[in-house]
Amino acid sequence: MAPGFPVRKGHVMNTRKLLLDMDTGIDDAMAITYALADGSADLIGVTCCFGNVTNQTAVRNTLDLLSIMGRPDIPVFYGAEHPLEQNSFRVSDACIRIHGANGLGNVSIPTAGEPEKISAPDFILDAAGKYGENLILVATGALTNLAAAIRKDKETFAKIGKIVFMGGALTVEGNVTPYAEANIAVDPLAAKEVLESGIPMTMIGLDVTHKNLLTRTEAARWSGHGRAGKALYEIVAHYIDNELEQKSCSLHDPLAVAAALDETMVETHPFAMTVVTMGEAAGRTIACPFADQCENKNVSVALETSPRFVPEFVGKIESFLAAREKEEADRP
Ligand code: RIB
Ligand code: CA
Repeated sequence: MAPGFPVRKGHVMNTRKLLLDMDTGIDDAMAITYALADGSADLIGVTCCFGNVTNQTAVRNTLDLLSIMGRPDIPVFYGAEHPLEQNSFRVSDACIRIHGANGLGNVSIPTAGEPEKISAPDFILDAAGKYGENLILVATGALTNLAAAIRKDKETFAKIGKIVFMGGALTVEGNVTPYAEANIAVDPLAAKEVLESGIPMTMIGLDVTHKNLLTRTEAARWSGHGRAGKALYEIVAHYIDNELEQKSCSLHDPLAVAAALDETMVETHPFAMTVVTMGEAAGRTIACPFADQCENKNVSVALETSPRFVPEFVGKIESFLAAREKEEADRP
């Protein structure tokens, strides 16, 4: 057994393994919690990158969140600190406002655990080699770690059974510019390399995430369930308060996890996709416009979602938090 793959005593292992790659801010935190709550695939690790926060803060947030959710055994890995062809990164003022200075809505949760020694791209490749078809990779930040893994060993990376990323906007406007969505805008070159790799993947963009909203009333159902429920609610309340209407927030990253675990959550259409890397439209995800050059339609772009998603998301997290509360109360 390679170091870093968690095995829990008494847990019946799922065949499907889940690996999350993220810039752990608030919707990433909800995505982690949803993955644990759903439980239909074993979360074998979380690899981090820059984006909503720095790579260091993403690692810290992930460790602390996994710990408060009762899963400090899940390994966490440092990843990219900056875009592929830059040597530094600064968190944007918009991210500080939306996700808070600490990326978790300025809510403080206990610090716990240490990251692993190997890098995010290396862990992704190790997991691809070990689990192959049974591995599901969900990326909800910049695609820099994925691009680095592909540059290092494309053949092994291509063994991953399912790749889903939250990012891009095909039929709607961007959210950081009129053209670009945040995860793609922050490293367009990495995104271009991943999307043009020819490897099959699913894109969960703003086309669908903006249609799936979580209201404050729904999130409040979590708040009474112990310290984990209280913390998650307070974190999410910050996110909602910083949305325009201050009533609800888009479930960007959780929808990517849900679509990865249950394909019926989204309706997809195949496209040959690329990314604009320069100029005013940098970060824009576009579908190949020339029919004769669009043979490799390797990106399945989600354009519709199931009405089941939001109620299932809220309900599964509520049940998980209730069980977590009981587990803590029963602890001697
Ligand atoms: O555009 C939304 C995406 O950008 C989400 O993944 C959010 O967490 C940020 O990374
Ligand atoms: Ca994210």
